[in-house]
Amino acid sequence: MSTVDNTIGAGGVTPPAAIKVWDPLVRVFHWSLATLFLTAYLTGEDAGQMHIAAGYAIAGLMALRIVWGFVGPRHARFGSFVRSPRQVLAYLRDVALRRAPRYLGHNPAGGAMIVALLVMLLETGITGYMMTTDAFWGAKWVEEVHETFANLTVGLVVFHVLGVLFSSFAHAENLVKSMITGRKRRS
Ligand code: HEM
Ligand code: HEM
Repeated sequence: MSTVDNTIGAGGVTPPAAIKVWDPLVRVFHWSLATLFLTAYLTGEDAGQMHIAAGYAIAGLMALRIVWGFVGPRHARFGSFVRSPRQVLAYLRDVALRRAPRYLGHNPAGGAMIVALLVMLLETGITGYMMTTDAFWGAKWVEEVHETFANLTVGLVVFHVLGVLFSSFAHAENLVKSMITGRKRRS
């Protein structure tokens, strides 16, 4: 029995209604990433210094998040939210049947989305960098692959935000606010 349960058992103070789920690094990472992604996307057409700086900053954030996924606190760790395709599909079936459970950390579909976003953003960054190298300078195909990855990422972001909104309504909680404050309802 935890200290909190003991306290309740003893008729003492009630446990806090909300607990810390997202650590500061995850929150700063998230909103910096969203801002930089918008910046990189909107400056892609002329691909000046701003575009390249935003692109490299995103690549840096990806590296940081990957390391944090192994050494960060519980809810930031890949081990706590990356699930097998079978588990993700089972979760999505439960969503369709309106009986998906609530997760304190990322749900299995959210976990799959995070992996997809990280991979797609890394690929966008790598192909962007390739265009600046002698070997691929002016290579049309690299430019097209880069643009395709960027557009596919936009598609993922649309589903990401829809998923966040859907989950917020399904469990009557404001997940966007939680990504700002770091706190979520206990149960
Ligand atoms: C205004 C738009 C956005 C909103 C409202 C939003 C909201 C959120 C929320 C609420 C979460 C936590 C999900 C959960 O509770 O399980 C989250 C996670 C995440 N979002 Fe977004 N997001 C937005 C844009 C973006 C963009 C543009 C990207 C990337 C290009 C992105 C990438 C991610 C990633 C990687 C995570 C996982 C966070 C982590 O564990 O490090 N988001 N987002
Ligand atoms: C993940 C972050 C990035 C996103 C979302 C992104 C997005 C885009 C988009 C949408 C375009 C427009 C393609 C077109 O309309 O022709 C573009 C072009 C370009 N990007 Fe990125 N980019 C990113 C990272 C980078 C990086 C890191 C570099 C270089 C180090 C880079 C270099 C370029 C260049 C040189 C072009 C111009 C291609 C041309 O000649 O039209 N990008 N990018």
